[in-house]
This record gives sequence, structure tokens and C-alpha cells, in this order.
Amino acid sequence: MKTTIAEVKHHVGQEVTIGAWLANKRSSGKISFLQLRDGTGFIQGVVEKKNVPEEVFQLAKSLPQESSVYITGTVHADERSPYGYELAVTDIRVIHLAKDYPITPKNHGTEFLMDHRHLWLRSRRQHAIMKIRDEIIHATVEFFRKNGFVKVDAPILTGSAPEGTTELFHTKYFDEDAYLSQSGQLYMEAAAMALGKVYSFGPTFRAEKSKTRRHLIEFWMVEPEMAFCSFEENLQVQENYVSYLVQSVLNNCRQELKTLERDVSKLEKVTPPFPRITYDEAIKLLHEQGFDDIQWGDDFGAPHETAIANSFDKPVFITHYPKAIKPFYMEPDPERKEVVLCADLIAPEGYGEIIGGSERIHDYDLLKQRIEEFGLPLQAYEWYLDLRRYGSVPHSGFGLGLERTVAWIAGIEHVRETIPFPRLLNRIYP
Ligand code: 4AD
Ligand code: MG
Repeated sequence: MKTTIAEVKHHVGQEVTIGAWLANKRSSGKISFLQLRDGTGFIQGVVEKKNVPEEVFQLAKSLPQESSVYITGTVHADERSPYGYELAVTDIRVIHLAKDYPITPKNHGTEFLMDHRHLWLRSRRQHAIMKIRDEIIHATVEFFRKNGFVKVDAPILTGSAPEGTTELFHTKYFDEDAYLSQSGQLYMEAAAMALGKVYSFGPTFRAEKSKTRRHLIEFWMVEPEMAFCSFEENLQVQENYVSYLVQSVLNNCRQELKTLERDVSKLEKVTPPFPRITYDEAIKLLHEQGFDDIQWGDDFGAPHETAIANSFDKPVFITHYPKAIKPFYMEPDPERKEVVLCADLIAPEGYGEIIGGSERIHDYDLLKQRIEEFGLPLQAYEWYLDLRRYGSVPHSGFGLGLERTVAWIAGIEHVRETIPFPRLLNRIYP
């Protein structure tokens, strides 16, 4: 019977055939151990000289890494095996013999692995990361659907620049200028006025000349936007959403977290509510910890965020940043006009900012003034101002960076491993 590795648990004691690749092998005189993978999982195939025709035994011994086969054998439950099951092999049919697979079981340098990303994805570690990424995407759709949000897709080619004009990818749109989207937010604001609670999930682009473990040039963002929603209500949605993501991965990706040697006790603490500190308190905390370089009005760098995060064992909201270091659309605090009703959510353990969000300006005159102050072309924002001309309401939203979230939950040092084909500074291959 033809089946998959994920399904062998239903076939203990039966003979099955699986289409698989040879990930690795170990042979001695009378026995070969084949590490097999088929995309759904990993299993060990045991080929014993006494159980198979001589040519099958010789084939098993000589089979090159990453060759593809149809392999037949009897399924055994085996507690000692890291996979839980083993295949007592009775037959092997070669589909394709691989030759000199470049990624051998020994250690390779990062640049080499990045050059072979199209093959590196086959490794057990990358498999686990991609499964966790998929779980987080799935949990996102589930969470927003359960909470009455409508998924709305934002355009990728745009004429607006919500997050500042310095990091834009410029392109031509026939005779006009256009940019690759930095954020779908402005479009989600329009959609929220039509559908109430909405979210987008799509690729976003930042021509950031940053070469850090947290920055990608192309990354995926989840961007909810809610009409009639205050700054405070926005934070509650965020802590519930992020906790839901962590719980979903804990519930559905135990094996993957084990493969990645993730300390799950740290994830188990992630339940609402999350701690909150203001920007002012964050500055004070940094001064207490000896960061004398930072002053009120400065933006935080990675070391600052890490120091703040280390004071808490859950993600922490930093709220009320100075208006001058945040985008034009954020609502000023009515009590203190120099700060805005915004929050960044900083992940624990040094993974940095995973969410940026705020209440949005809903007053027409103020928004127009802010667009002008930022030197943005009014004409490109007429449609956005229309949202404040016709039934404007208080509204709030946020953007969660998928790759940073995957890096944190899966415990991956660098975001380059959290996206199938990373676009990094100076890298667009493969
Ligand atoms: O804080 P950002 O720039 O916020 C926005 O774009 C808002 N318009 C979102 C909104 O309110 N709808 O980006 C949001 C998140 C960050 O917190 C971070 O997780 C991620 O996007 N992010 C990046 N991830 C990887 N590489 C980069 N270069 C990133 N820049 C931002
Ligand atoms: Mg931000």
C-alpha cells in the first residue's frame, strides 16, 4: 500500500511503500540504516542482508545521498527511534540517482548554505522551521476569523509611503512612479471603513541598508485594522493574538520544537496580559542599566530593546513614543501632544520588535498637516484623506512581522532561516 511517513502510524505491522529521498545513511557489514524523508516527516529504513535480495542490499549500501526512491517495508513502532517508527525494508526501487549532493552531513558555512538555499530547505532543521512558519500563518487566519475579521488583500504596487520615504523600492508604473509596498496599512484603513475589522497578510519591502539578524529586504506582514477601536483595545487584540500563535505552535509543533531544541518553558509563560511600559519609563530603565548614550527623543537600537526585554519574561509593550520618531499617521496623545498613541511589542530573549501599531489620526485637518510636515505629496494621499472626509471614526491597527515572530517562537538566531527564500542586503540568489 502506498502511503506517507506521516501516515505510517496507522499501518504498524503492515507492508507499505513510500516515495522518499535518502537524507543520510549508515552501513555496516550486514545492515544499512537509511534516513528517509518524504516531506511529511522522517523515518529510518533498516535494510538487513538476510531479509532482502542481494541486489537490494548492495543498492542500499551504495545509494547516494538525496537519491529518490520508492521504498517498501514493514512498519514497526520503535520507542528508541527518534521518529517513533521504523521501516524493515523489503524492496527499493530507484527513481533517480543523485550525484555528489553538495550539502553533506558535515557542517557548512552560512554563505555556502545560503547559496544552496534551494537544497538546504530539505534539511531536518529547515523542515521544522517551515512547518512552524506554516502553523503561525494557519493560526493567524484562524484567530482573525474566530474574532470576526475579514481578510482583505492590499496591493503590492503603490504610490504611497506609509513608513517614510528613505527605504522605498522605486519602480516605474508605465509613465508614472511607483513603489513596492512597505505596508498595507493605509489600504487596510480604507477597508476597515467598509468592513469594520479587517487584516491583510502579504509581502512588504524595505530597501534598508541594514545587515542585522532581524532585517530582511522582503518580509511578510500581518496587518489588522479596526474601526471604532481605541489605542487600549488595540493592545488587547495584540496580546491575545500573539498568545494564540504561541499556544498553537506549542500544541501542534512539539516535534519541530524538539528538533530545534527550543526551550518551551519560556514559551509556556506567554499568556495575556503582557507588561506595558511607556517610552519614558523605558529610557529610565536603560539609564539605570548603564546605557548613558540614549536620550529622550532617540529611537531604540537592538541592544536597547534586548535590555528592556530582559527585564520581563513575556513580550513587553513600549508605549507613547515621541511623535518625532514615528510615522505621520499616528494619533497624538491628547494629554501630551509630543508623544503618540502607539506601541511596539518587543519579544523576549532578544528577538526584538515583532509588532508596531497605533491609533490613527482621524481628524482631517491634523492628518493633512502631518502629511505636509513629512513632505509627502498630498495628491498621492487624497484618497487616504477621503477616509477623514466621509464618516471618519477613531481606529487602530498594527503590523506583525512574520519572520521575526517565527524566529522568536522557533528560537532561530537569524531571520534568514525563517523565510523560504530570503532577500537580504546584497543577496537575491537563489
Ligand atoms: O513597525 P513597522 O515598520 O510598522 C508598519 O509598517 C505599520 N504600518 C504596521 C501597521 O500598523 N499596520 O513594521 C511592523 C513590523 C515590525 O514590528 C517588524 O516585526 C516587522 O514588521 N519588520 C521587519 N521584519 C523583517 N525585516 C525588516 N526589515 C522589517 N521591518 C519591519
Ligand atoms: Mg516599527
